[in-house]
Amino acid sequence: MADLDGNISAKDYGLDYPQQTAGFPVKGAGQLDFGMRHRLARIFGPDGRTAMLAFDHGYFQGPTSGLERIDLNVVPLAPYVDALMATRGVIRSVVPASCDNALVLRASAGASILKELSNERLAMTIEDAVRIDAAGVAVQVFIGGEYETQSIQNLTTMIDAGLAAGIPVLGVTAVGKDMVRDARYFGLATRIIAELGAQMVKTYFVETDFEQVTAGCPVPIIMAGGKKLPVLDALTMAYRAIQGGAAGVDMGRNIFQRSNPTAMVQAVRGVVHDELDPAQALQLYRDLSGGAED
Ligand code: R5P
Repeated sequence: MADLDGNISAKDYGLDYPQQTAGFPVKGAGQLDFGMRHRLARIFGPDGRTAMLAFDHGYFQGPTSGLERIDLNVVPLAPYVDALMATRGVIRSVVPASCDNALVLRASAGASILKELSNERLAMTIEDAVRIDAAGVAVQVFIGGEYETQSIQNLTTMIDAGLAAGIPVLGVTAVGKDMVRDARYFGLATRIIAELGAQMVKTYFVETDFEQVTAGCPVPIIMAGGKKLPVLDALTMAYRAIQGGAAGVDMGRNIFQRSNPTAMVQAVRGVVHDELDPAQALQLYRDLSGGAED
């Protein structure tokens, strides 16, 4: 039988120190359940920001340039980011289970580049996200697109499932070919996604009034990367998004299509977490890459 004497004499209730309620650094998440917040805290750092690496492109366009061999080209970048955004197929087949990144799983799919892209359905269950130990799931939303209603229903269905399981949903704004990419459109799309219950929203940066997009969205906005830009332009875009109120970036091609992705991912991380300005981040890229410019 255990000796209980020590327990009796060791009681210290810290009467001079009222219990503190921990704050939570993620926008709009202060009233969520513990499990949801615990997962969000894996995606976002204590500064409330995230450097996320997106390499889910294969789900609709096959072996994208830079992603031909994810084991060789992308897995080595994982230590430099907070979160990995990928499909469950790649997570299970290629990403080491020993990695300690937050995993954000693509949960909607349904059309290839050969067809109408907005025609998506949910492509995985929340139970499988639990099995994978996902920190979040991502659902694409096509506001104004041909299958707008269907994509919104995908989102709300996954939000309900995510609330039951404690898994946050990243709503991803997808822009159709004919849409104008401006603050008005992204303000509309991001606000709709947040109002419907997504705990995070991913959207593109716009040059004008981006801060109105972030201000009007009650949950964190994560900037999507888009096509490969010159190094300084990509770092400037990330910097301006953060300055404009984004809580981080989810970049893919602007990292893994570089001549030195390892240098670029560290430069992007510096912008997100270390307050590097574009010139400082560019210098870091050059220093780490041996002077690469592309
Ligand atoms: C798009 O459907 C996917 O969610 C990509 O992960 C996203 O576009 C980010 O990748 P990139 O920075 O290459 O645009």
